Amino acid sequence: MKKVEAVIRKEKFGEVKAALEEIGTLSLNSIEIAGSGEQKEFKQQWRASEYALYLIPKMKLEIVVPDDLAEVLAEQVLKAAWTGNIGDGMVFISPVDEAVRVRTGEKGVDAL
Ligand SMILES: Nc1ncnc2c1ncn2[C@@H]1O[C@H](COP(=O)(O)OP(=O)(O)O)[C@@H](O)[C@H]1O
Ligand SMILES: [Mg+2]
Repeated sequence: MKKVEAVIRKEKFGEVKAALEEIGTLSLNSIEIAGSGEQKEFKQQWRASEYALYLIPKMKLEIVVPDDLAEVLAEQVLKAAWTGNIGDGMVFISPVDEAVRVRTGEKGVDAL
């Protein structure tokens, strides 16, 4: 199993969700986050507050899928989240050792 994590622009959430629905019904988490990177649109004069204001509201999606779905999933996200401007976000893919469904006790890909 793989976990695909995507940091995207908040305004891209609808498009990314639609792109994921093209693949099929997916279970996912969406989390409102504050991210820091090269995008610095709230830059201010004061050094101390400058750093704090570099945090920009973003959306993070977290999706655990069978190995063979991870690549196509990431491609869909990348396609839908892209604007070409600084701040588009990131996609991370990492291995997941185990998943257990609370309701049934199913494990591994059967639980997803
Ligand atoms: N190395 C990283 N680790 C975790 N999140 C990151 C990383 N790089 C970027 N991000 C996330 O992606 C967002 C956009 O990144 P940013 O650097 O501003 O734009 P870009 O990558 O387009 O230059 C950040 O606000 C942060 O939420
Ligand atoms: Mg960056």
